[in-house]
Amino acid sequence: MLLAAEHVKKTYHLGRVSVPVLRDASISVREGEWVTIVGSSGSGKSTLLHLLGGLDRADKESGPVLFAGEDLRKFDARRENRYRNHDVGFVFQFYHLLPELTVLENAMLPALVGLSRWRWYSTRSALRARAAELLATCGLSHRLEHRPAELSGGERQRVAITRALINKPRVLLADEPTGNLDIHTGSGILDLLAERHREGLTTVMVTHDAAVAARAQRQVRIVDGCVV
Ligand SMILES: Nc1ncnc2c1ncn2[C@@H]1O[C@H](COP(=O)(O)OP(=O)(O)OP(=O)(O)O)[C@@H](O)[C@H]1O
Ligand SMILES: [Mg+2]
Repeated sequence: MLLAAEHVKKTYHLGRVSVPVLRDASISVREGEWVTIVGSSGSGKSTLLHLLGGLDRADKESGPVLFAGEDLRKFDARRENRYRNHDVGFVFQFYHLLPELTVLENAMLPALVGLSRWRWYSTRSALRARAAELLATCGLSHRLEHRPAELSGGERQRVAITRALINKPRVLLADEPTGNLDIHTGSGILDLLAERHREGLTTVMVTHDAAVAARAQRQVRIVDGCVV
């Protein structure tokens, strides 16, 4: 198993009110698989995906999230950063691009994070070439120097996907990657993800669109805080 959550619990606390979102959620994803998580709005899909990506922590009494058999809770800060930045790539519904950076700079950013100044300069040109190549495979070679505000939604999501892939992650985690796009644009994004999956990228995607979910090999559903 490449990525798994075992009996995971997550409760949000709003003042004195506790909202148990995930009560006993288990999911396991094999290397090379494409799994889609479905469920109604507020069922905890994003919460589960964030836990899988190490972007949030489960409750104290929760079971573990395991990556290649390793418990994420045992990671020190350095390993945790490497996990978030290299082992997994994350794509969000609303892209989360940095508006002041160009398309090329946005795509390169995760690869520049944490580099020393010297390494930053020495790596930069090789990295530019790799980012430009990856952006070209996403149909964006004519937009490299544009800022996100000058792009359509579909183009922004392509930049976000490139950014998620720049460090060659072993798992792509995508939260409603087509949720903000029209059907035609969304299906282009899905084709792009399907192509990456065919090349061997393990993919976990959240959606509440049945047609989108049908593209995956396997679907799991969150109901009452459990994965069924
Ligand atoms: N930071 C937070 N603080 C408090 N409650 C939260 C927080 N994040 C999420 N929740 C609550 O947890 C529940 C699950 O949220 P989550 O975003 O995981 O749902 P979802 O299945 O992704 O929904 P959607 O399909 O609308 O994106 C919701 O009731 C939400 O209000
Ligand atoms: Mg969500």
